[in-house]
Amino acid sequence: MKIKKGILLIDQHDKNGFWGGKFGGNFIPETLKKPVEDLTILFEKLRKDKKFIKERDYYFKNWAGTPTPFIKLENLTNHLGGAQIWTKVVSDLNGGAHKILNATVHCLIAKRAGRKYVTGDTGAGYAGKMLSMAAKKFGLKCKIFMGAKDIKRQKPNCDAMRKNGAEIVPVYSGSQTLIDAVSECMRYWVSNCDTTHMCVGSTVGPNIFIKICGWSTSQISKELIVQIKNEFGEIPNKLKLINCVGGGSSSYGFWNEFMDYNKKQVEFIGVEAGGPRNSKKHAAPLTNNSKIGVLHGSMQYVVQNSDGQIEETESISAGLDYSGVSALHCFLKDAGRARYTSATDEKALEAYKLVTKYENLNPSLEPSHAFAEAIKIAPRLTPDTVICVNSCGDAQKDRDILKKRLGKY
Ligand SMILES: Cc1ncc(COP(=O)(O)O)c(C=O)c1O
Repeated sequence: MKIKKGILLIDQHDKNGFWGGKFGGNFIPETLKKPVEDLTILFEKLRKDKKFIKERDYYFKNWAGTPTPFIKLENLTNHLGGAQIWTKVVSDLNGGAHKILNATVHCLIAKRAGRKYVTGDTGAGYAGKMLSMAAKKFGLKCKIFMGAKDIKRQKPNCDAMRKNGAEIVPVYSGSQTLIDAVSECMRYWVSNCDTTHMCVGSTVGPNIFIKICGWSTSQISKELIVQIKNEFGEIPNKLKLINCVGGGSSSYGFWNEFMDYNKKQVEFIGVEAGGPRNSKKHAAPLTNNSKIGVLHGSMQYVVQNSDGQIEETESISAGLDYSGVSALHCFLKDAGRARYTSATDEKALEAYKLVTKYENLNPSLEPSHAFAEAIKIAPRLTPDTVICVNSCGDAQKDRDILKKRLGKY
């Protein structure tokens, strides 16, 4: 399985929508064939339309708040010794996470398609919060599907969605987390696709949703490559880009512009949710060699039992608590371009504690998984190695969990 150079990874699928011949595709009911085809035609047209790109760039800059800072974590670096640790503070975006990029693009598309309603899924609440913000900005009505367990553990983001006028539909089926929210949202779209635009909150789902999301979050690495060159004069010989992986949208966006560099020079490290230390459950299909299956319209590595039934996952981080993973990451794994590992709940909490002790940074539980890996490997490396962690979300939403587990927030 090979990645082609000079072609965006989102475009390296075959005519049936599969990356590497086996990941992705369009496993959708008959009723969605036409809406998915229409959306594909519209998006492929819009992404080449200079006026649309100008509009996207305008809202990214003047509303979403790009570019975000790229800073050195000097205290953490000095404390750990070894490699330099840098971060891209994507959590500085309007609303506090990268999900604003995908939500903005989806609402701009919805407007071009003449839709008045948008619907979306959410786990950590950021995808929902951002869709509610963009919907409000562009005059669209918004309905968000969210697992009942996540509604309880991510209250600040739910409050924000309601404040923005969005309706939250609680999902009580299955594990009452992200996987069930995505399923319910897709079910809703099947019956309402004539009036409603659907925003999938990560690089998952049928092929076109993976593409729209990846195209949107690539903004992160477009900025980062310029910032790194400005800082170091060139791309360092040993650069490690570490990102948490749930559905995979922040990591894909963080890596995209560096795709054609040799992996020895620019290594991609994806960190999945290992779950509680003493639990058999996890949300790490790539790390744990899960088998291939179909989830949410797409072929991918997915946590499943020996009968092929999708298994429930467990993680302290609602945004990573998902049984599947983007087809793009399955492709990156099989092509050997990215390395995937996992961090337990406990390691993520320890990382949060250490980062906030030494730095004025407040990474949510999702990027705290990525920081756990950075903290693990930095001391074994030399100072000419540059580690950059995507701090893709703010921990404000996690304040109740952090208070409970660490005694303070
Ligand atoms: C802050 C944050 N980071 C990471 C994720 C994981 O999603 P993805 O892998 O698509 O970036 C989420 C998902 O909700 C999130 O809110």
